[in-house]
Amino acid sequence: MNKSWKTALLMVALLFSGILAACNSSTGGSGSVSVGIVLPTRDEPRWVQDEQRFKEALEDSEYTTEILFSQGSSAREKENVETLINRGIDVLIITPQDGDAAGAAVETAKKEGITVISYDRLITNTDAVDYYVTFDSVSVGAAQGQYLIDQTGGTGIPLYLYAGAASDNNAFLFFEGAWSVLQPKIADGTFVIANSSEAEALKDSAELTRDQMSRILGQVTTNWDPNEAINKAQTHLTAVGPDLKGDVAVLAPNDGTARAIADVFASDGEVSSYIVTGQDAEKASIQYIIDGKQSMTVFKDVRTLVTDAISIAIDILDGNTPETTGSYDNGAKEVEAKQTDVIVVNQNNVKQELIDSEYYEASEFTGLE
Ligand code: BGC
Repeated sequence: MNKSWKTALLMVALLFSGILAACNSSTGGSGSVSVGIVLPTRDEPRWVQDEQRFKEALEDSEYTTEILFSQGSSAREKENVETLINRGIDVLIITPQDGDAAGAAVETAKKEGITVISYDRLITNTDAVDYYVTFDSVSVGAAQGQYLIDQTGGTGIPLYLYAGAASDNNAFLFFEGAWSVLQPKIADGTFVIANSSEAEALKDSAELTRDQMSRILGQVTTNWDPNEAINKAQTHLTAVGPDLKGDVAVLAPNDGTARAIADVFASDGEVSSYIVTGQDAEKASIQYIIDGKQSMTVFKDVRTLVTDAISIAIDILDGNTPETTGSYDNGAKEVEAKQTDVIVVNQNNVKQELIDSEYYEASEFTGLE
């Protein structure tokens, strides 16, 4: 390339970056963004809800923020973090798509002196995470397992286990919680595992290692994908005989997969009744609960999580030390954490917990008494 071409290209590049800088400044009053937020996907109502709650909470804030979605891709997630670094953020709030893979992205941010807050899902095996804002995920799983125990009777009840994506640390926490209460009831014959030989082989182990859980997840993961959940549920129901049908219990990890799995179980003529768990209090699942198609959900009040994340961010921007309630081992360090409790919701308390608390409006549902 000759010199004049190079000069011309350089000038175009400079002009372009000037235009970009001008565009960026329009997103934030002072010309840069102070808090960058990266969420995993718009394809699940759970995360669209977080976006909306962040926007509501930040409406009158003096700090400028920008929210980007990674759409299920760790590569896109890394690009998002780089975009936000270029916008000049001081704090990054991020829900990793894949806990391990996100390490590289946050290490880049950390090198720029940015404070990293892991939001809802823990970023694992890197020391580039400063804080973790989370619900009590082990108790989510324990609440799901306990619900199945409380709502069924007799012995030899077929139990179908489903789990979240193995790339999400939460999937292990949820399963660990569920197993802690279900295992004694599997060992004593109250439940019979219908769809996992790995879980069946471990039924006498009160506590599972991550490796053992990985083996079970390998058989029963939904990957947080309702379609995968449908396929697995269909395969499982096709594989079993009538002795593993009738009145059954189903551990479904979240609402998106719960509705998918519930539809499959509801359409099987040999399944006479099913109890199915969920979590997130997604609107569609609240309607399912009102209609008797999903048994329960674990309500995680996203308003609290958002408030906690923002107050940590503001403390950092103001030069204060954020308050935390404990810590989580992410494989490389103990990450200071702020944790929030969860609430079990079923037909009996749905109105009180979700409407009276103004989380949702009654008009968004039908058949609510
Ligand atoms: C979250 C759940 C969500 C799931 C799938 C988990 O990490 O804690 O609320 O349903 O991911 O997105």
